[in-house]
Amino acid sequence: MVGLLDLDGVRAAAADLRAAFATPGVEVTHTFAVKAASLVPVLRLLSEEGVGAEVASPGELALARAAGVPPGRIVLDSPAKTPDELREALALGIALNADNPQELARLDRLVPPGTAAAPLGLRVNPQVGAGSIGAMSTATATSKFGVALRDEGAVDWVVRAYLDRPWLTRLHTHTGSQGVPLELMAAGVRAAYELAERINTAAGRRQVTTLDIGGGLPVNFASDEVRPGFRAYADALRAALPGLFDGRYALVTEFGRSLVAKAGTILARVEYAKTAGGRAIAVTHAGAQVATRTVFAPGAWPLRVLALDPKGRPKDGEPVVQDVAGPCCFAGDLVAAARELPLLTEGDLVALPDTGAYYFSTHFAYNSLPRPAVHGYSGPGPAFRTLRRAQTLEELVRESGG
Ligand SMILES: Cc1ncc(COP(=O)(O)O)c(C=O)c1O
Repeated sequence: MVGLLDLDGVRAAAADLRAAFATPGVEVTHTFAVKAASLVPVLRLLSEEGVGAEVASPGELALARAAGVPPGRIVLDSPAKTPDELREALALGIALNADNPQELARLDRLVPPGTAAAPLGLRVNPQVGAGSIGAMSTATATSKFGVALRDEGAVDWVVRAYLDRPWLTRLHTHTGSQGVPLELMAAGVRAAYELAERINTAAGRRQVTTLDIGGGLPVNFASDEVRPGFRAYADALRAALPGLFDGRYALVTEFGRSLVAKAGTILARVEYAKTAGGRAIAVTHAGAQVATRTVFAPGAWPLRVLALDPKGRPKDGEPVVQDVAGPCCFAGDLVAAARELPLLTEGDLVALPDTGAYYFSTHFAYNSLPRPAVHGYSGPGPAFRTLRRAQTLEELVRESGG
């Protein structure tokens, strides 16, 4: 089983993103949410395309630095930053968004009086509601992220917090990932924009210079079509919030899935094909270890499955209802249940498209299954290069304390 990444597709997505938000007089910094594809060569490629890194852990920061992403294009978000992580971010001069009042209090002790070497902001939860996947919805009434703006007294508290801290110059919001409609995303950005206006009016100056609007553009998993696309989102924002693009604010984005999902494919061999209780079952090597969300929440994360022969050619033949199972030792390890496909047999291949984000790059170590190799391809031919080699059993044993 391998992960495949269409590098030209990633470059094209980055170009679409840049073009969609490009506005004369507006400084836009695009960062890539590293959690979506935590592979150094992918971060390096995106960095070459002018897309920095949004990191949410020391590990993600280390990957971004290893990829050579310039500190000025790195943003640190995370709801659980330790004092050491805050210190490191300040020393490196990377932007960071505090999550809550306690984190701001820690920054009070760390930021030298009157100055800040790094751009600092506060994450707010606009509480505009959930999208279709609860676990991906970060702007619910009780979400764990940011300062909940609609809670009593919260807006006044935030305005005061900014007035007391001249070094707070950014405001951050991220309404959710996958399943959040554009209108809800725009409503979240509106809340942050209106709050920035209020802070700046209260301060009598442009204290908030930068709005970080997060990521979250959903991906279409049902076909090859890219929708809604960066252009649709940027246009929706322009229509709803003209002031966002009038040059008074610099913008930061943090898209993850929408930059890489459609460029990725998992390719796995069918080891056995069997039947049970009248159901055809193809046992493959791609299961919960690489398609974790699909296996544990199949309703929210359905994937297409392409049935291919051993040489990778599409299979034809009458569709047969079958399960496409993974190698993990639990019954629910299915990437597709009761799916109609040409009958898969021993030695065939299955391809799982749209898996460039949060799939093969976000491995789940169940059953000590090793991380698969990830190969990038580009150009006519195409030319392949290894982005991450497969984990060896020796590495796996060492990692497991052996
Ligand atoms: C703060 C923040 N920014 C950006 C993202 C990226 O979201 P997506 O991959 O849906 O674009 C996430 C995802 O969890 C996030 O939490």
